[in-house]
Amino acid sequence: MSGSAGIQQGSPAIGAAGSAPAAPGAGGTEGSGATVGSARIAVKKAQLRSSPRPKKLEKLGVYSSCKAEGACKCNSWKSQNPPPTPPRTDQQPNTFNLQDPCRSCSHTLGDHVTHLENVSEEEMNRLLGIALDVEYLNTCVHKEEDADTKQVYFSLFKLLRKCILQMGRPVVEAQESPPFEKPSIEQGVNNFVQYKFSHLPSKERQTIVELAKMFLNQINYWQLETPSQRRQRAPADDAAGYKVNYTRWLCYCNVPQFCDSLPRYETTQIFGRTLLRSVFTVMRKQLLEQARQEKDKLPPEKRTLILTHFPKFLSMLEEEVYSHSSPIWSEEFLAGSSGGPIPIHTGKTHLTFSQLKRKPSEPLPHEETKKLRIVGDIPMELINEVMATITDPASMLGPETSLLSAHSARDEAARLEERRGVIEFHVIGNSLNQKPNKRILMWLVGLQNVFSHQLPRMPKEYITRLVFDPKHKTLSLIKDGRVIGGICFRMFPSQSFTEIVFCAVTSNEQVKGYGTHLMNHLKEYHIKHDILNFLTYADEYAIGYFKKQGFSKDIKVPMAKYLGYIKDYEGATLMGCELNPSIPYTEFSVIIKKQKEIIKKLIERKQAQIRKVYPGLSCFKEGVRQIPIESIPGIRETGWKPVGKGKELKDPDQLYSTLKTILQHVKSHQNAWPFMEPVKKTEAPGYYQVIRFPMDLKTMSERLKSRYYTTRKLFMADMQRIFTNCREYNPPESEYYKCANLLEKFFYTKIKEAGLIEK
Ligand code: COA
Repeated sequence: MSGSAGIQQGSPAIGAAGSAPAAPGAGGTEGSGATVGSARIAVKKAQLRSSPRPKKLEKLGVYSSCKAEGACKCNSWKSQNPPPTPPRTDQQPNTFNLQDPCRSCSHTLGDHVTHLENVSEEEMNRLLGIALDVEYLNTCVHKEEDADTKQVYFSLFKLLRKCILQMGRPVVEAQESPPFEKPSIEQGVNNFVQYKFSHLPSKERQTIVELAKMFLNQINYWQLETPSQRRQRAPADDAAGYKVNYTRWLCYCNVPQFCDSLPRYETTQIFGRTLLRSVFTVMRKQLLEQARQEKDKLPPEKRTLILTHFPKFLSMLEEEVYSHSSPIWSEEFLAGSSGGPIPIHTGKTHLTFSQLKRKPSEPLPHEETKKLRIVGDIPMELINEVMATITDPASMLGPETSLLSAHSARDEAARLEERRGVIEFHVIGNSLNQKPNKRILMWLVGLQNVFSHQLPRMPKEYITRLVFDPKHKTLSLIKDGRVIGGICFRMFPSQSFTEIVFCAVTSNEQVKGYGTHLMNHLKEYHIKHDILNFLTYADEYAIGYFKKQGFSKDIKVPMAKYLGYIKDYEGATLMGCELNPSIPYTEFSVIIKKQKEIIKKLIERKQAQIRKVYPGLSCFKEGVRQIPIESIPGIRETGWKPVGKGKELKDPDQLYSTLKTILQHVKSHQNAWPFMEPVKKTEAPGYYQVIRFPMDLKTMSERLKSRYYTTRKLFMADMQRIFTNCREYNPPESEYYKCANLLEKFFYTKIKEAGLIEK
């Protein structure tokens, strides 16, 4: 048996649920084939069970070895008039007489069933059940066109025949027995509901639970495409892995649906994310298409659920299925304190959408808890409503994820490729303790080549040394089994930072978003490992790339933490990046895009509400030069409020004393020293050519004394001028520039305290 699943008698068993009679067709959603097939066999089994014992013996004799004296070697009784090959399912089964001689050994049929004489009725019925499954599988073998499937059917056929001969129980032999992956699909979906929806009120959560059940039910009756069909559709996928899972599915889930003498397992209980990933994209499309087609047949109470909520549910689930960092696939996944898991189990019958009936809603086992919401937040109901329109329920396909627009984020193409399995990311490294893994070593050599080509100024030996150094790891990007890029890094957990050593993508794969997606994966990897700072020495060519990945020259890690740890490169610039553990970096651009769409829709809605058109302003034609913003007709209706509007002090003495106090405070501030007096020409060459309206605190004091400041606006304008002038003349890294910023902040605190502008 190749792979890890096998069938007794050592037969390689991979296959397709192809054209077998009443067996389900490949790649569809309909489970009706299997249902009809199994129903037909069940009827036949019931008929046989109620037939007289001699009739039962006759049937089993065909599958039993000869017990006649003289140690006859004949394995099964064969009729003198064999049935046509292949046998037709619509034919009545042949009936034989116990006295009929065997075509092979000439002993009678009775001689083949002597061992059954004292067997209980119950055991007889069990064996008869197997016999009918054998006949059915025999038909399947003959009708099946796919070679692999044929082989599985044939192996199962042989297994069941052997069971009748030996009066044993059918056990599919495999190196591994179910479950094949943990957590199971069912558990993962359960976790997903917890993870994303536990904050919802119980009624809405109930809706989600229903969607989850519906989805799991669909998977349990889903017909996987054959490995050869899949190879054609997705040649880059892990064909061998799929074949193994396909075999398991056929043996443990699919065939037992119509041959009930084989133990049956639910797909969602014995398979995990790997199988789900290989079917999800196609399945999602087909389910939505099916829902669209059945739209008019849907029970009214299910319409919104299926047409509106289901597409959204699938989109959200898709994100988690293909994301590398989704917590729902962790075995340690624990429901948050907001609620325990809601066990979602599927029924045993496959239902199409239109067959769904409303069930009385059951109370959920846990108290609803609500997320903390900020006052002024947009109501959740409104967001949900807007979200539903964004995903365009009219098309029933949800948001398009495969077409890239000109406005796509840089990493979008890479993210989609990863989801489709075209590219993979692995953190790898050399180890002195473990046996070398050939594949990993090949990748490390590949990485060394990519780095050497892309970083020609780095000595090749140096790159090799670090890539193969067990203290360094490399996040590698794999396409078609080949390394096409990577980031080599060294973690210093005790110093709370990681050093990025090399980062490169092979020439013909650059500027496709791989570099960005690599860095995002590295960020998520570090968040998981509790390191929230990256440091790297970037050469002049790399600074641009690192800046775009959120790195800056403003290093947040204290020097004492990295000095002596990080490798220093001559002529390179130290850059750092501080990670925010609440950001899912690989999904970040998608989230931002969605938020943008929501805001756009909300603005559109608001605009639709305020559809009043005012005549244009004519006052400017009449010579008016300036008008207050609030006097523009309609401006207040939009929700606009004058910013910074505060109390105008009407009493001149009161205004004077308030301004005096503020000016005093400003002058005594530690950062006021550069602005105390007018700038001296000798100290600042060319100052007065650059700054046309100079101002300083001494001049302001004089103006205050002379009662020049008759309104707060005049005072504020002069103060503001001091700061603006300073920033215009001085570079941002200068001491003066920083003083201006700090003093400005202080000044605004003071005027707010005085009530001159709104807080
Ligand atoms: N300078 C400025 N910007 C750069 C850049 C550079 N050297 N290299 C890439 N970018 C930009 C891209 O144009 C893109 O910008 P955009 O999103 O505004 O269009 C962004 O950075 C990321 O592009 P992406 O496609 O995600 O990156 P990539 O797959 O091309 O990989 C490198 C980026 C740097 C890894 C790749 O160009 C490379 O291997 N370069 C040679 C080796 C190197 O210099 N490594 C860095 C130091 S170790």
